Amino acid sequence: MSVIEQSNAPVADQSTEPSPWWRQAVVYQIYPRSFADANGDGLGDLPGITSRADYLEELGIDAVWLSPFYPSELADGGYDVADYRNVDPRLGTLEDFDEMLDALHSRGIKVVVDIVPNHTSDQHVWFQEALTAGRGSPARERYIFREGKGEDGAQAPTDWESMFGGPAWTQVADGQWYLHTFAVEQPDLNWASRDVRDDFLRTLRFWSDRGVDGFRVDVAHALTKDLTEPLPSRVDLEKLPFDGNHPLVDRDDVQEVYAEWRKVFNSYDPPRTAVAEAWVDKARVPRYASPEGLGQAFNFDLLEADFDAGQFETVVRENMELARVSGSSSTWVLSNHDVTRHATRYGLPHPVREPNGHPSVKHGLDWILSGGVTPELDRVTGERRARAATLFMLGLPGSSYLYQGEELGLHEVATISATDRQDPTFFRSGGVDLGRDGCRVPLPWAASPESAFGFGEGGSHLPQPDWFGRYAVATEEDNPDSSLSLYRRALQLRRTLQTGEQLEWIDTGHADVLRFRRPNGWEVVTNFGTDPRLIESDGVLIATNEMTDGMLPGESTVWLAPRHS
Ligand code: GLC
Repeated sequence: MSVIEQSNAPVADQSTEPSPWWRQAVVYQIYPRSFADANGDGLGDLPGITSRADYLEELGIDAVWLSPFYPSELADGGYDVADYRNVDPRLGTLEDFDEMLDALHSRGIKVVVDIVPNHTSDQHVWFQEALTAGRGSPARERYIFREGKGEDGAQAPTDWESMFGGPAWTQVADGQWYLHTFAVEQPDLNWASRDVRDDFLRTLRFWSDRGVDGFRVDVAHALTKDLTEPLPSRVDLEKLPFDGNHPLVDRDDVQEVYAEWRKVFNSYDPPRTAVAEAWVDKARVPRYASPEGLGQAFNFDLLEADFDAGQFETVVRENMELARVSGSSSTWVLSNHDVTRHATRYGLPHPVREPNGHPSVKHGLDWILSGGVTPELDRVTGERRARAATLFMLGLPGSSYLYQGEELGLHEVATISATDRQDPTFFRSGGVDLGRDGCRVPLPWAASPESAFGFGEGGSHLPQPDWFGRYAVATEEDNPDSSLSLYRRALQLRRTLQTGEQLEWIDTGHADVLRFRRPNGWEVVTNFGTDPRLIESDGVLIATNEMTDGMLPGESTVWLAPRHS
């Protein structure tokens, strides 16, 4: 066995200062409308989260990230915010928020909230004001309004498309057009406006003063724009490089916004944290993750990778290097509210790769479109690989972001009828893309379908399939072999094992087996192949499948105790 690489120690590890909590945290994403419903209206709510605080504590996570819980018309599952400093009345009140915060804090769980700065809801008072105030008004300056082209300005200013399909411009009654990168109900804000900037600083202070520990920043790469006329056509836009000067995304000047945010974060003790959702070229991720900026950025590479040793190793190497460049810690994600759940992805044939070599983040779309019929989902393999990938991820240096329900090994739901669908992608793509509802179905807490599998007395806002009972918390809780038991044990162990943010790769002699060692000797081995492999060790700490005679079964991960020699 030979050591083939020692990664560089991140700067923070070389000091004697205690490491900030977020650097190696396990953060559990809650999609509030689908977590637990306390008032029985079919929608999850904040008191629902409070009622499950013991569950979260027992799971062993360090922090919760709440997807938006703000007042919203739900045109985009809450990512269309009508009021940034309030709670959707269907989800509770600010007092309920404070109670939830106390319940989580008193159990040692930090709370991160989602901030959606690229766009508001069209129901936001600013947008309503902009509509009535008319062209040229200061109210319209907060958004991106333009005259149309052609006779009477009846054509959109450009032929750009929105991310959810359909045109990116919508005309208002007086003839002007507004830009919306996402749904019609999500008008883009104008980040050149001081009013907009100041208001977000106020929002950050509002939640920080209430005691939240950090922020997840939605589409962090898109805020600032250069819309100097003439505007490029869609085809011309696509030819432009992403070099910091692109008119719409990843502009260098977006970092000026985050430098201001950083001052706010650092005015608190401990400083508030932030993690950027930034879909940008890899080499540019460290800008977002730098300590002068948001401080940490998601990488979605694991989520895009097949269950494949070579791909996983490359993802880890590249992202450890990016973390070294930024001085931040790496982030790892296998599932979230925007993608097909990883237990399902891994149970489907490998995805067709896009021209840029990436598998589509829409992996599983064909399966969802077929109503979950073809290609055939191999649930057992999917779950087995999901556990192996999760245990691999949890052994890595840096932060792991989990998505509610993955601890149950939950699968994507493909059987949602057109009338039940909620995702704007479904509507705007004319049903070509069924959207993301299948990973947002309310969680099963109880084995029996009554009370929406324990979600709440008022049914479930997205239909739960019959098989949900098999994955319910109550079903898995007392089963030592369940996914939930594995997550609980692994997270508990991870706390005791956590160490410096480095790893050394150890050559295993098998292309389908990855092995790495952390500074305290903790080792992680994943067998991505199907043949069992002999693994030398001085003791198994936890394994996704039992080892016999030193053999690690296929598609399995094991954590090993420090070796004596
Ligand atoms: C982010 C969110 C996604 C949302 C979009 C627009 O990508 O994760 O759910 O639809 O932003 O706000």
